[in-house]
Amino acid sequence: MNVDQTVSTFLDFFRERGHQRIPGSSLLPSSGDSVLFTTSGMHPLTPYLEGHPHPLGRRLVNLQRCLRTTDLDEVGDRTHLTVFEMLGSWSLGDYDHQQSLQWGYELLRDGFGIRPERLYVTVFGDDEQVGPDTESLRTWGGLGVPVELTGEDNWWSNGPTGPCGPDSEIFVWTGDGPPQGTPTSDQRWVEVWNHVRMRYRRHEDGSLEPLSQSGIDTGMGLERLLTVLQDKPSVFETDLFLPWMKTIPPLWSTDESSLRVIVDHLRSSIVVIGDGVTPSTTGRGYVLRRLTRRVLTALWRDDSSRLLSDLPRELIGHTLEHFRQSCEVSHVREVLLDEERRFSTLLRRGRQVLTREGFVGKLSEEDYHYLHQTHGLPRDLVVGLLTEGGSGPSTRTSSSRA
Ligand code: ALA
Repeated sequence: MNVDQTVSTFLDFFRERGHQRIPGSSLLPSSGDSVLFTTSGMHPLTPYLEGHPHPLGRRLVNLQRCLRTTDLDEVGDRTHLTVFEMLGSWSLGDYDHQQSLQWGYELLRDGFGIRPERLYVTVFGDDEQVGPDTESLRTWGGLGVPVELTGEDNWWSNGPTGPCGPDSEIFVWTGDGPPQGTPTSDQRWVEVWNHVRMRYRRHEDGSLEPLSQSGIDTGMGLERLLTVLQDKPSVFETDLFLPWMKTIPPLWSTDESSLRVIVDHLRSSIVVIGDGVTPSTTGRGYVLRRLTRRVLTALWRDDSSRLLSDLPRELIGHTLEHFRQSCEVSHVREVLLDEERRFSTLLRRGRQVLTREGFVGKLSEEDYHYLHQTHGLPRDLVVGLLTEGGSGPSTRTSSSRA
């Protein structure tokens, strides 16, 4: 099943069960929201999960782009991405969790053709405030799916305060032989779908108040699902990444882990720029800056003459189109090339200062403070220069001509 078939199978399944499709939102949450980026499909629906009536009714479905900075250091493995897409379904005070789990099971088995013996689920055990999720235990027991009980791993919240509740995560076995172990004991169990019972609101003091209407919030990572359905070793081998994986290795040959970082971070940078962010020293702009600088560090580690201007415009255009963004390719290029120039200049200056002033080995807090305040060299950059033994950028940078 290719990416388009996978998305439509999901959307159609829920539409046939009375769900209205809502359009995906930008990565930038609405004003007043404390998080930097949309991290889950439920994010734009927070007021409705808290009880406000949604104009399209009580059953919703969509595909939402998300960004998780918490996963940044995991990128390079088989399953983690910075920007990813989430297939989501919601009941706003309509059907219950049992129904959601039953539909989830049915869609995975009959819609996506995943054999039931490849499934394992986790369910919320308990904590000091809330007891075990016996209803989900009963439902999975009735469906014959093995269950592992966990604690905080099966509690979803969007942040320190706001709507939250116990969840049940569905894992698929991706190993070669017959399934072994459990989701927490064997990494070949890959989590694909989370079903949350949005039952509480958490207050500043940590206390939980039951929501006036209990809701269901589910989210399935599209790329992980594709990895399972297409039987690929990683998300990067699915058809979703084909344009990237056809283009980048011949352009910039490198090891597998760096290739994944370059592809993920460049693709994510394009989407973030496409949603209107520009690099800066704080907030969203800083996340974008970190992404592009990590790409450049990985590129220049192998060959200091590599240039972002070599990234084909078609690939930028394809990415913007995939995420249904109306931003111009030339704008994305300008932002990327400008950041490349800044980073190159900063690295050059950093190398000169470190050599001239004899900074080597482990520096003190005072040294870092001095280098930042006096020479504008951020700590991360100094650490990178000291540990990489002077490998750095070429004196050339991409021409900004679009
Ligand atoms: N909001 C839940 C998640 O992102 C579904 O896992």
